[in-house]
Amino acid sequence: MSAIHKPVPHDAAPLHVTGEARYVDDIPTPAGTLHLAFGLSTVARGAITAMDLAAVRSAPGVVAVLSAEDIGDADCSPSNNDEPLLATGTVHYVGQPVFLVIADTHLNARKAARKATIAYAEEPAILTVDQALAAESYFEGGPRIWARGEPADAIAKAPRTLEGRIEMGGQEHFYLEGQAALASPQEGGDMHVVSSTQHPTEIQHKVAHALHLPMHAVRVETRRMGGGFGGKESQGNALAVACALAARHTGKACKMRYDRDDDMVITGKRHDFRIDYTVGVDGEGKVLGIEFRHYTRAGWSLDLTPPVADRAMLHADNAYWLPNVRIESHRLRTNMCSATAYRGFGGPQGMLGIERVMDHIAAELKLEPLSVRKANFYRAATPPKTGPGTAKRFGGAHSPMQPEDTGPQTTPYGQPVEDFILHELVAQLEKSSNYAARKAKVAEWNAANPVLKKGIALTPVKFGISFTLTHLNQAGALVHVYQDGSIHLNHGGTEMGQGLFQKVAQVAAAAFGVPLEAIKITATDTAKVPNTSATAASSGSDLNGMAVKAACDTIRDRMAEHLAHLHQTTPDAVVFEDGIVRVGGAEMSFAEAATSAYSNRVSLSSTGFYATPKLSWDRVAGQGRPFFYFAYGAACVEVVIDTLTGENRMLRADILHDAGASLNPALDKGQVEGGFIQGAGWLTTEELVWDDKGRLRTHAPSTYKIPACGDRPRVFNVDLWIGANPEETIHKSKAVGEPPFMHGIATLLALSDAVAACGDGSEYVNLDAPATAECILAAVVRQRGGYV
Ligand code: MTE
Ligand code: MOS
Repeated sequence: MSAIHKPVPHDAAPLHVTGEARYVDDIPTPAGTLHLAFGLSTVARGAITAMDLAAVRSAPGVVAVLSAEDIGDADCSPSNNDEPLLATGTVHYVGQPVFLVIADTHLNARKAARKATIAYAEEPAILTVDQALAAESYFEGGPRIWARGEPADAIAKAPRTLEGRIEMGGQEHFYLEGQAALASPQEGGDMHVVSSTQHPTEIQHKVAHALHLPMHAVRVETRRMGGGFGGKESQGNALAVACALAARHTGKACKMRYDRDDDMVITGKRHDFRIDYTVGVDGEGKVLGIEFRHYTRAGWSLDLTPPVADRAMLHADNAYWLPNVRIESHRLRTNMCSATAYRGFGGPQGMLGIERVMDHIAAELKLEPLSVRKANFYRAATPPKTGPGTAKRFGGAHSPMQPEDTGPQTTPYGQPVEDFILHELVAQLEKSSNYAARKAKVAEWNAANPVLKKGIALTPVKFGISFTLTHLNQAGALVHVYQDGSIHLNHGGTEMGQGLFQKVAQVAAAAFGVPLEAIKITATDTAKVPNTSATAASSGSDLNGMAVKAACDTIRDRMAEHLAHLHQTTPDAVVFEDGIVRVGGAEMSFAEAATSAYSNRVSLSSTGFYATPKLSWDRVAGQGRPFFYFAYGAACVEVVIDTLTGENRMLRADILHDAGASLNPALDKGQVEGGFIQGAGWLTTEELVWDDKGRLRTHAPSTYKIPACGDRPRVFNVDLWIGANPEETIHKSKAVGEPPFMHGIATLLALSDAVAACGDGSEYVNLDAPATAECILAAVVRQRGGYV
């Protein structure tokens, strides 16, 4: 039986639960390994006027102390070299690394780092959106604008118009394993680096740059991360570069891991957004014209802000046909840690904008929110061939831009939405979650209960799959079959808990018709597969699965050709199945087949390569096909709030999610559950608070609250939508890493629905995120006209 589409557990599950799984900090270190810590800026913006490091140098265990002048042009930016590893004369946020301590132990390094005396000429920090706008503190010169049609005109002529604003906070990644790296100097000046990173090739690139070495002299390995969530796409660079520089400086292996508080203060987080909107609608709540203004605080350096903010714009439509639309995106430079990748990569922020608009329209027009959503859905491109009547059911919006009644409508950026399945998927979820009946029950409950109020919401997700930087959509693999029939698997993807390695092993096992145990999953290694992209944009299994399949197919074809020749038949008559190879009436084990090929001097090793087809994207014009396909899903969430305290909980969540022909339904369900809870956390309890000096006050689990086991809904029904990806992806599956995150939006809107039950409907609830208990209480008070 083929391993594909089977719900096999994560390959490292037993290692995870027994504590045997090795993370960077668990790797036995070479004798004499030294440990590093950064000294951090204590002001948000200013010039360093004096720096006295004598006390640091003389602290116990300290071997060396490096500052900017000792490290050349070492830089850790993933984009444009605007992130010197150590501050060069000026500082740009509280927590910016200013100097580097090298000591005998982790603790001694950290203790010494606090002993510096640094004087700053402080300048007024730019912290808020309004301060940044007033100072015209922009990346990329100014706002980016994409538009189509005549939005201003359409809004002006619309029967109803509304305006609003939603603010949504950032989010700390809170990977369980903090950032870590270990660098060991090799002969001839080469460097070996082990890093907890989603992007080994970039670590290799940045270390090579810092050491002025060619990339071939730097080798980077990553076996696994204890979670990345986007926080290890670029944020591991600083540690790896620091370790490599210190290793060269001392000739010793050097290791660095951030203590949790330092990790939270130093590294970037999800971008927070303010989204302003103006929308014109007809009497049914259909959008005729819409304008969005996105404002995001990008922090002090560029990092990945352009593609993140682009992806927010690319998801401003979510599931809805917007005939006339303008999206303005302001990427603001602020004196904070540099905001970075985080699951969904801007998509959740853009999507929450339009979901808020749908909610607002429904409240204003006194319509049922789900019916407003459906009225605005993209048309199903191809009406199902089930006879008359369906055309009406699937007929969508008319507009001056799309006079025809059939065929795909296009996104604001011009990509046809060819496979829109949300009409059917949402109908199925409505049924399985019993949405209509439960909504009536919620209303009954609310009429009878003055203190505890319930709310319910059902929201859809359409998420674009592919890196928007088109050239990143490529992957490589290296596969060896040994003469005993065991198989060594390597590819460019990294494992962060999402189950990529197991899925790709299933692909390899299926290609050779062998059991999963025949496949050895190995660490990601820049010396085996070069020039890889970050494992990101949810495309890990799409890209690496295809590259691995290509490598396996090459080897299998060589084996088939050899065996066909031996048994005087054709290669396509050779069958690889259940660990057996059948050829011309003969049968042998896969191991015997491998031995036979080896003995006849047939190569049993191959690389594989894959580049995603069909992509073309002009990011300046905002036009083209940035995505190979879309992943879909929907969530229905019911909540209850205590109107005296704002406390709340999720009572039930039903999710139906489209993972195509899932490579592994068990792992994919895990991704849906985890993604949803993480998304709900972003919008409810996870609050980042910077004070007016730019100091992050929530830098530990004591003050920053991620969802705990007890926060999961008591009833939690997660199902995968049955359907193959219409595009030619690996075994017709769909990417699943990020899209479920956005099901968390249903939680925020259910809370909003519960708050609305406290008022008379005359004022829109206007709940910002995160909707902490305090925010909910304040919103209840507003609904009740100032009284609890
Ligand atoms: N799941 C776990 N358990 N841990 C993680 O760090 N990262 C998410 C998602 N799911 C993450 C995860 C993010 S941000 C991405 S982009 C994808 O996994 C990356 O992996 P994939 O492309 O293999 O899905
Ligand atoms: Mo995920 S934010 O693309 O690493």
